Amino acid sequence: MNKVTVLVGLQWGDEGKGKIVDILSPYYDVVARYQGGANAGHTIVFNNKKYVLHLIPSGIFTEKIKCVIGNGTVIDLEALNEEIDIVKEENIDISSRLLISGNAHVILKYHKIVDAINESKSNKIGTTKKGIGPCYFDKYARRGIKIQDIAFGVGLLEKISDNLENLRRIFPESYELKELSPEMIYEELLNQFSKVKNLVSDTHIFLNNMIKGNKNILLEGAQGALLDVDFGTYPFITSSHPTAGGASIGTGIPVNKINSVVGIFKAYLTRVGEGPFPTELFDINGKIMSERGNEFGATTGRHRRCGWLDLVALKYTVLVNGVTDLVITKSDVLDVFDEINVCTGYDYKGNIISEFPTNPKLLSDIKPVYKVLKGWKLSLNEIKESSDLPDNFKSYLSFIEDYLEVKIKYISTGPSREEIIINP
Ligand code: IMP
Repeated sequence: MNKVTVLVGLQWGDEGKGKIVDILSPYYDVVARYQGGANAGHTIVFNNKKYVLHLIPSGIFTEKIKCVIGNGTVIDLEALNEEIDIVKEENIDISSRLLISGNAHVILKYHKIVDAINESKSNKIGTTKKGIGPCYFDKYARRGIKIQDIAFGVGLLEKISDNLENLRRIFPESYELKELSPEMIYEELLNQFSKVKNLVSDTHIFLNNMIKGNKNILLEGAQGALLDVDFGTYPFITSSHPTAGGASIGTGIPVNKINSVVGIFKAYLTRVGEGPFPTELFDINGKIMSERGNEFGATTGRHRRCGWLDLVALKYTVLVNGVTDLVITKSDVLDVFDEINVCTGYDYKGNIISEFPTNPKLLSDIKPVYKVLKGWKLSLNEIKESSDLPDNFKSYLSFIEDYLEVKIKYISTGPSREEIIINP
C-alpha cells in the first residue's frame, strides 16, 4: 500500500521538522505543506549550505519529488518569489516540481500592518508579524483573496479596496494603513503573481490522482500541535491547524487515505512568543540549552524560551494527532547535563494532574513534577548505530517510549542529513 504520512511537530514548533522532511523525502513522491505560511522556518543543510524555507516544502532538495503548497496555507507572494530565487540557485527546476493551490489565500500588505498593530498592544501574542492571523481572519470572515482570484482578476481591485477601507475604519490611527493605496497593492499583487502563475493548479486533484497512482505522499506540518487553534494553548496559538487533522482539510486528501503520523519532538522544549510554559527554565540549564541548541527563531531571529521536556504535554499531542512513530531531535544538546529532568505531572494546589490542561490560566498556575534521569555525559554526534548509544541515553529513550506508548523510530543528533540514527 502507498504511504500517506503526516509529519507533525508535537510541541510549540521548532522541533526540527525541515531536516526530518529532507531525510524522509527520498521515500516519497510528493511533499505537501498544508497550513501556515511564511511564519514557518524549516532549516535544511544542503550542499554544506544552510537554507531556511518558509513556504516551499522541505522536500524541494530531493530530486524528482513534487512539492505542493496546499489550499490550507496562506501565501505571501513576495516572500515566495524570493524563496524560489534562492532555491533556483541550486539549479532546482521549480517549474516542473512546485505546485501551488489556487485555493490558498494570499497575505497582503495590510495583513502585516494589522499584525504589527495588534502586536503593539499589551495583550500581544508574540506573533512573527508575517500577517498570518489577519489573513486567516479574512478567510473565515469570507472576504479573503485566494490565489485563483488573482488569476481570474474579476472584482479583485474592489475587494482589496473594501478590505482596506474596512481596516482603516477599525484602526483609524494607523498612518501605514492610510498611506496604502488599493491600486498599489493590486499592481504589486499582479506583478508577483505573474512570476508564479504557471505553478498554480487544483492541487487537491493532483494529490488525489497521485494516491490513485499508488504514489507516496508526505504532508509537512508547520509550527506545532501546541500552537493549534483548537488544541493549542489558546489564545497563544497560531491561526491554523498544525495538528494531523489539518492535513486533510489543508490539502483535500480524505482522512481515510492518511495512514501514518510521524510526530517530532525536541529532547527538551522551546517556545517563541508569549504564553504559558510550565517547564520553562530561567537558570543556567536554560542558558545551556539555548546556547548549545542555538535557540533563535529561524524566521524572526527571536530568542526561544527553553525548558525541560514536558511528557504531559507530549502525551496529549501524541493523542490528538494519532502519532504512529516518533522522532526525537536535538538529543545532543543534552550531552553535557549530569542530570536530566522530564516532567511527568503537574502539581495544581497540591493535586497532581496528569492530563494536559489547555486553559492558559491553569497552565500558568501549575508546577511541574519531575522524574530525574541520569545524564549520559558523552557526545552523541559521531554515533551512527543505535547499539553504540550510551546506556543512560537508551534509558532516557525507553522512559519516554514507555510513558508515551509509542516507539521512537529516529534519533536526530545534529543538524546535517547524516546525523540521524534509526532506532530498530
Ligand atoms: P503567528 O503564527 O505569526 O501568528 O504567531 C503566533 C504564535 O505562533 C507566536 O507565539 C509565534 O511565535 C508562534 N509561531 C508561529 N510560527 C512559528 C514557528 O514556525 N515556530 C515556532 N513558533 C511559531
